[in-house]
Amino acid sequence: MDSYTLITGATGGLGQEFCRQCAARGDNLLLTGRSEQKLEDLRAELLKSYSVKILTFACRLDDELERQSLCDFVAKAEVKLSQFISVAGVDTQMAFERYTREKVLFQLRVNFEAAVALTHALLSFRAEGFSILVVSSISGSCPMPYFALYSATKSALVSFFSALRVELKDKGVKVTVLMPGSIPTRPDIIEDIKIQGLKGRLSSKPKDFVVKKALSGARKNKRIVIPGAFNKFVYFLTKITPYRLVAAFVARGWKNKEKDAFSAF
Ligand SMILES: NC(=O)c1ccc[n+]([C@@H]2O[C@H](COP(=O)([O-])OP(=O)(O)OC[C@H]3O[C@@H](n4cnc5c(N)ncnc54)[C@H](OP(=O)(O)O)[C@@H]3O)[C@@H](O)[C@H]2O)c1
Repeated sequence: MDSYTLITGATGGLGQEFCRQCAARGDNLLLTGRSEQKLEDLRAELLKSYSVKILTFACRLDDELERQSLCDFVAKAEVKLSQFISVAGVDTQMAFERYTREKVLFQLRVNFEAAVALTHALLSFRAEGFSILVVSSISGSCPMPYFALYSATKSALVSFFSALRVELKDKGVKVTVLMPGSIPTRPDIIEDIKIQGLKGRLSSKPKDFVVKKALSGARKNKRIVIPGAFNKFVYFLTKITPYRLVAAFVARGWKNKEKDAFSAF
């Protein structure tokens, strides 16, 4: 039976880079994103450069029934999974009171519920040496006013997958969480990095660098991977600085910022 690496958020900026680097190392790929057309285009582009097998399945990860269909697809394809890479995420940023109810649920479900529920379902399809790599964010290292839901869901990923890693250690399953700083993927993020000036430049790392570090960290079974010295320093600072100071600093920086690249609601 062939084994595959399943990648969520495959059609996004970081996801596509994971696809390229996994294909380059010879992994067969099972790719998911919301758009069938984007997945088909990505598959065609990857097949021009890499001789691997690629399956695609379009799925809205905030919808439990669609997630179930994805798992049914994996079962029907009769494949084993060598790695699950959870990349999909929604980085909506605004004061919590400005959210609609739908936006709250959407971000919660994509960022946390989907990663956990899929992991639960996909463990039964694992091949020997199975590993899980989950994309969190450096924003998950402390509670962030005006980015509260995002930072909380990313922090929850670190908490949950760190614990799961211990539960699965004796079963030979590796679990790694990636906590990147800024990555210039979408135009609005590139603009935001520019606006942040020196801090943005220091935190920003290209997607190929981030993915290389992530895959290497997962191979070595690191618990957490933080690409870049500045981001490691920021992580450390958030752990040693009293929270009221961190909160005041973050609130000042983010209070007047709003970002919503997933504005269906
Ligand atoms: N870029 C950064 O600065 C940065 C920094 C730290 C962490 N991260 C994390 O890195 C990950 C990728 O971010 P990115 O920069 O590559 O952003 P992106 O280009 O917007 O990619 C987001 C991906 O998530 C998918 N997605 C969103 N909602 C979904 C849903 N309901 N169902 C299924 N898939 C859904 C998108 O699918 P569609 O293609 O169908 O829209 C897309 O593939 C995210 O988890 C993000 O939080 C990014």
